[in-house]
Amino acid sequence: MRTAEIKRRFLAHFEANGHTVVPSAPLPAIDDPNLLFINAGMVQFVPFFLGQQAPPYSRAVSVQKCIRTPDIDEVGKTSRHGTFFQMNGNFSFGDYFKAGAIPLAWELSTKPVEQGGFGLDPEKIWATVYLDDDEAIEIWKQQPGMSPDRIVRRGKKDNFWSMGIPGPAGPCSELYYDRGPAYGPDGGPEVDEDRFLEYWNLVFMQHEITDVRSKEDFTIVGDLPKQNIDTGMGLERIASILQGVDNLYEIDEVRPVLARAAELTGKMYGAHSGKSAHESHPDDVRLRVIADHVRTSLMLIGDGVTPSNEGRGYVLRRIMRRAIRAMRLLGWQGRSFEELLPVARDCMSPSYPELEKEFGRISQYAYAEEDAFLSTLRAGTTILDTAITETKAAKQAKLSGDKAFQLHDTYGFPIDLTLEIAQEQGLEVDQEGFRRLMADQRARAKADAAARKTGHVDLSAYRNVLDQGGPVEFTGYQEVSRESRVRALLSGDGASLPVAGEGDYVELVLDATPFYAEGGGQQADTGIINVGGGRLEVIDVQTPVPGLVVHRARVLRGEVRTGEAGFAEIDVTRRKAISRSHTATHLIHQTMRSFLGESATQAGSLNAPGRLRFDFNTPGAVSPAVLQDVEQQVNEVLLRDLEVHAFITSQEEARRLGAMALFGEKYGDEVRVVEVGDYARELCGGTHVARSGQLGLVKILSEASIGSGVRRVEALVGIDAFGFLAKEHLLVSRLAELFRVPGDQVADRVEQTVTALRDAEKELEKLRAQMVLGGAGALAQQARDLGGVAFVGTEAPEGAAGNDVRTLAQEIRGKIDHSRPAVVAVAARANGKATLIVAVNAAAKSRGLAASDLVKGALSGRGGGNADLAQGGGVPADQVPSLLAAVEKAVGEAA
Ligand code: ALA
Repeated sequence: MRTAEIKRRFLAHFEANGHTVVPSAPLPAIDDPNLLFINAGMVQFVPFFLGQQAPPYSRAVSVQKCIRTPDIDEVGKTSRHGTFFQMNGNFSFGDYFKAGAIPLAWELSTKPVEQGGFGLDPEKIWATVYLDDDEAIEIWKQQPGMSPDRIVRRGKKDNFWSMGIPGPAGPCSELYYDRGPAYGPDGGPEVDEDRFLEYWNLVFMQHEITDVRSKEDFTIVGDLPKQNIDTGMGLERIASILQGVDNLYEIDEVRPVLARAAELTGKMYGAHSGKSAHESHPDDVRLRVIADHVRTSLMLIGDGVTPSNEGRGYVLRRIMRRAIRAMRLLGWQGRSFEELLPVARDCMSPSYPELEKEFGRISQYAYAEEDAFLSTLRAGTTILDTAITETKAAKQAKLSGDKAFQLHDTYGFPIDLTLEIAQEQGLEVDQEGFRRLMADQRARAKADAAARKTGHVDLSAYRNVLDQGGPVEFTGYQEVSRESRVRALLSGDGASLPVAGEGDYVELVLDATPFYAEGGGQQADTGIINVGGGRLEVIDVQTPVPGLVVHRARVLRGEVRTGEAGFAEIDVTRRKAISRSHTATHLIHQTMRSFLGESATQAGSLNAPGRLRFDFNTPGAVSPAVLQDVEQQVNEVLLRDLEVHAFITSQEEARRLGAMALFGEKYGDEVRVVEVGDYARELCGGTHVARSGQLGLVKILSEASIGSGVRRVEALVGIDAFGFLAKEHLLVSRLAELFRVPGDQVADRVEQTVTALRDAEKELEKLRAQMVLGGAGALAQQARDLGGVAFVGTEAPEGAAGNDVRTLAQEIRGKIDHSRPAVVAVAARANGKATLIVAVNAAAKSRGLAASDLVKGALSGRGGGNADLAQGGGVPADQVPSLLAAVEKAVGEAA
């Protein structure tokens, strides 16, 4: 079953049971300073559990995108760890509790595939419960097919769940699936968690905890206002079970990336390994790391994270570098992301269509990051080569730990590459010395991080630059170019560089700059800096520490040195388009508030050239009529051609003037206020147009939920808005022509056509079913006798759909005299794959024949169902005859 289908069934099951379907929140966890990324389905619902907000629904279901990196070193080595994964979850906010959650999970797990479930064999499911949770044990015992000897009590470490930070928590009960002896020893999850794969965690959310020192060591502050349910089913894990693959890197959403990486590097995945991921060959581990990390990079950039040296951006950078490095270690010297990212996109876009639309932006970031890293690698290789020559000349057998550390620390050159290159040259590396220096550095970084409490990266290089020269003046409100001086040049990893040459990626700090650093939702400026004899292209501008503007740039030609004077010039066309978007965002914000009330405050925004995204708090969907009114009013404000004016004032004065301030933004005493005539007034550090008329046109494209109580509108501004409308107009004209109706009747005509088509399809379906099933009687009469068992083995007519094949098997079975033991096997071909369905009647069952055994026997375990009816497949279509023969042989032997 494809992953997208598993997701669909999960949502459908809970929706049918009264749950509201809630979309995944974006990966960056913006509301919680303790979390970098959403790491569980429940994160967006925390305020509901804690009773801080009234939930708009009492039952919810979601498939949440998640990132977990603490186990990053396990990726590829076990079958279960991925940095990106999706969590199916159902939630009850003070509604049902254990007695509701357990049967809902059991039903979906065991309901046959043909009835919309996952068709897991109840006898292979184990449940664990928290130590003294007798109530849960009693409920588990009542589930059809569950046996008390598969219910296990476990302690806090395994069966008490929290986010690892203060918040809601509770005892939990987990479902495990037994993948069989090939995966490890028997004895349940206590004995082997690879064979017994945890696939669903039901948390009985009832406590609030604080002082979290470890998984098992925290303080329970008290009970939550209500008893809640939070469950998490690892989508990739259930997919690996239902797809019968060894591990999550081999499921449909990941495997093609792995396959492409293997193809590029000329490796045969799985060629050397034993059965379980435990015994994997290092090449296989690398291929899995690549598949996982490329997908994670895609999803992170898709959700707006960009590579940087801090926080979320740093996690992304590390993940990308690990993937690139793994490709190099497998022997691939070219660009990796250009080859692999589109494959990951094709795997993921059935579930996340926005990836398709956003791929231009996503790939731009990914490819630029890879280029920067490759140039680091190239620079490092040159230095390493020199060091190797020197070491050899000095007749030493070992490259010094100092050198290896310098390469790593200054040039970001990974140690495993140093080892490999040195080895090729017949040299060892003083690894002990290297590790000592690394440990020292880590201790320093830790002390620094502890002091700053933000963690993750060493910002001391930036702080030094700031301390030495004071804050950088931003002059971009008044001018688009200026003369300035290079105060500092830094490598991507924070080391200071005296000089940078053609092709290098550097970070450059000027004394004063017209370049706007990304912030307040506004994208960074790009442009050109000419310095001394060098010319740089600025691709990004950031503020890693307050007061310091850092240009990320590539040297196009010549050389650039610290201290040289130069001329900085932003891309004016792009800046103007961004400023138009920013002013439009203010107008939309103000207008939303005038229609939806004061509580419709901004929750985030993106101001890019010609387009904008505006997130705001409001409890429900905004109706199309309101959106239309908002759009109309905004455009009327443009026609009024109001003056846009910015001024600095005190916080108090700004508040008195009623300026809107964003929640959570921290301002000093003085604040900047931007007003659009008398219409909108807002605290803002961004750049804007001079008059509202310069926006030309604002077109709102869409409105959607991006989390509980947060909505997003996207809009186009200026010529982009015009271009969009013009294209739509052409499209409607073309449709009107094709349907031969006036434009305003196109929608009705399309609706009629679709209905007619659907009716015709239904009719066709019926005829096809009749054709397939019409042969049932004749086939039943041709049943052969295998030692007293009537046996029919046949291939379904070409074009028979899955349901028809199943019905055909049942029809044939029904047409054979009931007192006679009968086994019917029907095989079909579709899309190059074979499907096998076996139906067994009651008389045959009482002679010990079971449909599920026959299917699994013929397909070496790849199938599911029960004793009456079972189904399997996935093998190449040309195996249809041999599948039928295998069933026939098994029946013959058993009879
Ligand atoms: N929140 C629970 C988990 O992540 C379901 O396992």
